Amino acid sequence: MSTTLIIGGSSGIGLATAVRLAALGDTVHIAGRNADTLSGVKATHPALEVHVLDANGAGAVSALLAELGTVDRLIVTLSGNKGAGPLADLDLAVLRTAFDEKFWPTLTVVKAAVPHLSQSGSVTLVGAITARAGMPGTAGIGALNAAIEALVAPLAAELAPIRVNAVSPGYVDTPWWNMIPDGDREGLFDQIAAGLPTKRIATADDVAQVLVLLSTNPNITGTVIESDGGAHLTA
Ligand SMILES: NC(=O)c1ccc[n+]([C@@H]2O[C@H](COP(=O)([O-])OP(=O)(O)OC[C@H]3O[C@@H](n4cnc5c(N)ncnc54)[C@H](OP(=O)(O)O)[C@@H]3O)[C@@H](O)[C@H]2O)c1
Repeated sequence: MSTTLIIGGSSGIGLATAVRLAALGDTVHIAGRNADTLSGVKATHPALEVHVLDANGAGAVSALLAELGTVDRLIVTLSGNKGAGPLADLDLAVLRTAFDEKFWPTLTVVKAAVPHLSQSGSVTLVGAITARAGMPGTAGIGALNAAIEALVAPLAAELAPIRVNAVSPGYVDTPWWNMIPDGDREGLFDQIAAGLPTKRIATADDVAQVLVLLSTNPNITGTVIESDGGAHLTA
């Protein structure tokens, strides 16, 4: 039986991935900062092991890994949602915060986890299509996600035989978008979907399927897979 740890597994893409991997027979541990959210997840998905954790705390991350022992699949799906907007309007202090909320905790987790990963194991990260498509208004958030995706190839070479991969999502209907009021979000999603080749906003489970593939397939490493409804074709 494989042990999976999903940092950011209490919501959205991470939770959908946790549910899929638990159904495949993994022992799945999920971590997030909000204890109430985790309690709610535990009530709905009792098979998942839940842990309150802020991934920016290297000591707390190491303590959790020491408690788990060996981990077969590390999946990092955490993030804040800052850093978008045209450069002229972009507050660089806010963009620094965006890196603090996604890049640094992701790297903190990966660094702490390496000694605990099984040699047949995997690390799977989440970037975003902003890293690889020339969309106006995404220089800041695109650079952030490019920094995540840039970890993949060198770490895959450095940590081999442990495999390292990432998924690059486009627009996914998750609580990530909660900064936009409910009434406005539906209209925005309709507008975005109309411009996508697939004509739909992705579900968290669409992206979870790719994370399951990347984290379990023994023949994939150093790879970033786009799961973006074709957003990279339309930028
Ligand atoms: N949704 C989209 O359209 C979209 C598009 C492209 C890329 N992505 C990327 O996909 C990934 C997953 O996003 P999502 O849409 O599933 O977002 P989400 O529903 O907001 O989930 C984010 C998860 O990360 C956890 N988290 C955040 N900061 C953390 C920290 N410091 N320590 C531990 N846990 C932390 C959150 O729980 P707590 O808040 O309780 O900590 C939550 O479980 C992110 O990397 C995001 O950038 C999303």
